[in-house]
Amino acid sequence: YDTKTPQSVTSDPKSFASDSVRSRWPVILTGAIDDLYRSVGKAEDPEKQAEGKKIVEQLGALKYEVQHDRVLSPLPEDGFPEETAAYNKELEQRGNPTWLDVPWLFSECYMYRRISSFFALSTHWKGYDLFARQKIDTFRTSRNAVLELAARYREFIEQTKTAKPDEATEEILFREFFEICLWGNATDLSLLTNMTYEDIQKLQGSEARKKAENNILSNDLPAVYEILKKARAEGKAERRVDIVLDNAGFELYVDLILAGFLLATGLATQIVIRPKSIPWFVSDVLPTDFSALLNAISNPRAFFETQTDEEATLDKTPAPLTQKENDDLLFVFQDWAMCHAEGQLVMRPNRYWTAGGSFWRLPHEQPSLADELKEAEIVIFKGDLNYRKLTGDAWWDPTTSFTEAIGPMGAGSGINVLSLRTCKADVVVGLPAGKDEELRALPNGGGDSGSRKWAWGGKWAVVSLSKGQ
Ligand code: F6P
Ligand code: MG
Repeated sequence: YDTKTPQSVTSDPKSFASDSVRSRWPVILTGAIDDLYRSVGKAEDPEKQAEGKKIVEQLGALKYEVQHDRVLSPLPEDGFPEETAAYNKELEQRGNPTWLDVPWLFSECYMYRRISSFFALSTHWKGYDLFARQKIDTFRTSRNAVLELAARYREFIEQTKTAKPDEATEEILFREFFEICLWGNATDLSLLTNMTYEDIQKLQGSEARKKAENNILSNDLPAVYEILKKARAEGKAERRVDIVLDNAGFELYVDLILAGFLLATGLATQIVIRPKSIPWFVSDVLPTDFSALLNAISNPRAFFETQTDEEATLDKTPAPLTQKENDDLLFVFQDWAMCHAEGQLVMRPNRYWTAGGSFWRLPHEQPSLADELKEAEIVIFKGDLNYRKLTGDAWWDPTTSFTEAIGPMGAGSGINVLSLRTCKADVVVGLPAGKDEELRALPNGGGDSGSRKWAWGGKWAVVSLSKGQ
């Protein structure tokens, strides 16, 4: 079921995979070790401490194996026998590859799956999320954008309660909310962190927003709006939009903002959010991240007036929230809590999201999940990793259509797939002829090195729709 187009591999110096395995993963593993070490220090039970230290060692050994190009060892049975067997079968089929010569997508998934088995096999550290601290801290540092958006969201929801926007306004807002949700996938970008929401909100007149729009290389939002508008006009009783989530913190916050927008306009009657089940690619959403987010905004002062680690080292205290800022965030919390309580906002985990393969295999390997996705009007896949999984992380000609590149998830799948992705890898499809060449010719675009460097940094984005019919 896999694509025949060659995948990005860690042995290819032109691929971002090569850089990732050599420089980025060791850093991620070091960060993970530091985090766990801190928690071990805080543990009071000596047995728990000893066990934690053992996991620190296992993480250290894993880092050594990556850096010294060792074989990816089979996963131990850790309570999910079918899952580990699938990973192990693939290792075998791939001829027991080593870290520096293995497909990028599979090996990166394997790394996080392997880490989770250290914890799953422990007694005291089951369910420990070694990235939780990082995730919630980043949310705290997104304070400005969070507050601006809360004010905007409240204004919008309150207005909609008295009068729904006319269609022309709704369409503008639709683009706006989707694009905020899209760029939320690039929180490392200056776009949302350096800019107040008011700046972004100045819509079409705003140069900055225009600029950001120019960075969307392919934008299928008009067709998405048509699909949702049509379902509403037909009076379909259940109009569901699913979001296959990516990152926690700020990105999850803007995902929920989009969810609230779709519910308030009646463009959807239910939103299903789909998180991961194990700590994944550092920042991905786990069910506990959803509760942590709601918890944070349920008491905005306690959360945002707490010093971050960085502030503590600089001896800085965060400015207190104004009464309005506090109330706006509380409004957002109450609105989402109500949607959640009324079943309009539902979370549905599935362990398939943390399997090692691409989504080319999904309809065949997980038909029940595929059937669920078919029932949604649109399934939104957030972020870079989901895009790599959809396209098989392969070196497609960049003018290939998105529908073709997602194979069995494309035409005939019955699933309307929408990807909101800022580019952080090699793969990209759906570009007009000549665009890739143009971008490569930009400073740091990769030039004639053969690397598609412009697509590594999250500066460019694609919004791609594939209709399942
Ligand atoms: O920058 C590369 C990378 O770390 C990839 O390994 C991965 O696909 C992606 O970023 C994660 O980004 P996202 O959270 O958008 O999926
Ligand atoms: Mg992610």
